[in-house]
Amino acid sequence: MTENNPVPAGIDPHVPHVPRILDYLLGGTANFEIDRIVAERAFAAWPGEVGGVAGVRVDIHEARDSLRRIVGHLAGECGIRQFLDIASGLPTMNNTHEAARAVAPGCRVVYVDNDPIVVTHAQHLLSSEIDKRTAFVQGDFRDPQDLLRKAAGTLDFTEPVGVILYGMLHFLADSDGPDRLLDELLAAVPTGSYVAVSHFARDDEDTAMNATLHAMDQQMGEAVVRRTRGEVEKFFNGMDIVEPGVVRTNEWRPEAHGPRPLPMWCGVARKR
Ligand SMILES: C[S@@+](CC[C@H](N)C(=O)[O-])C[C@H]1O[C@@H](n2cnc3c(N)ncnc32)[C@H](O)[C@@H]1O
Repeated sequence: MTENNPVPAGIDPHVPHVPRILDYLLGGTANFEIDRIVAERAFAAWPGEVGGVAGVRVDIHEARDSLRRIVGHLAGECGIRQFLDIASGLPTMNNTHEAARAVAPGCRVVYVDNDPIVVTHAQHLLSSEIDKRTAFVQGDFRDPQDLLRKAAGTLDFTEPVGVILYGMLHFLADSDGPDRLLDELLAAVPTGSYVAVSHFARDDEDTAMNATLHAMDQQMGEAVVRRTRGEVEKFFNGMDIVEPGVVRTNEWRPEAHGPRPLPMWCGVARKR
């Protein structure tokens, strides 16, 4: 989906769009020139040994790879066969259905995003994969009952579910009630279900990175709520946190020594 391919109906290729910028950085094709220009500008000063856009690419790939490892763990050791991936963004790479089916081919996956532009692009990208086992629906974490209703066409809520909240909860302030919304969502899934979270970190001591993230939020028009490790652990209250707990994304059961991570926590917990 580049300028050389048909632009899906309802999409304006001249207005930059954050999930498409992420798609560009991850090496996808669902992005336009304006997204690439904004990405190059927003990340020009990204700090680190490999800095700038090349550096942010490495860091974002690293964060995304932790999702692949977590989903693989849930489909493998934990035996989870269905996933609800909320705030999935664009299915660029290391997607939940691919990571799960690499371990257990029959896994069912419902992707949910509240951005109609993401849903349009994603349905286009996944058109050959949308079937009885895979769906991409428009829904909002802030309306759990609506998204559960939509997911029920594909998922069986009497069986354990892997709920993926990667890069989601930092869009909610405490006053939005993220704990209450998570409780409401998890009330609909049985014991033995899991929830996986990634979340921008607040207690990062790398001030150069903090300054860059702040500038990035401003340039991309996106404000996120960064939380401490303890604050992210609280989302798992009443659940059993899977080892190694809430850690930087490159520390969650690494397969190799990863690069310096994004200032982002991730963790997984099991519903009792
Ligand atoms: C940065 S992307 C995250 C992509 C992917 N989950 C990952 O971690 O690589 C964030 C996505 O969250 C979506 N989003 C933000 N708030 C949401 C909400 N309340 N409900 C559902 N999706 C939401 C945005 O539309 C965007 O596509």
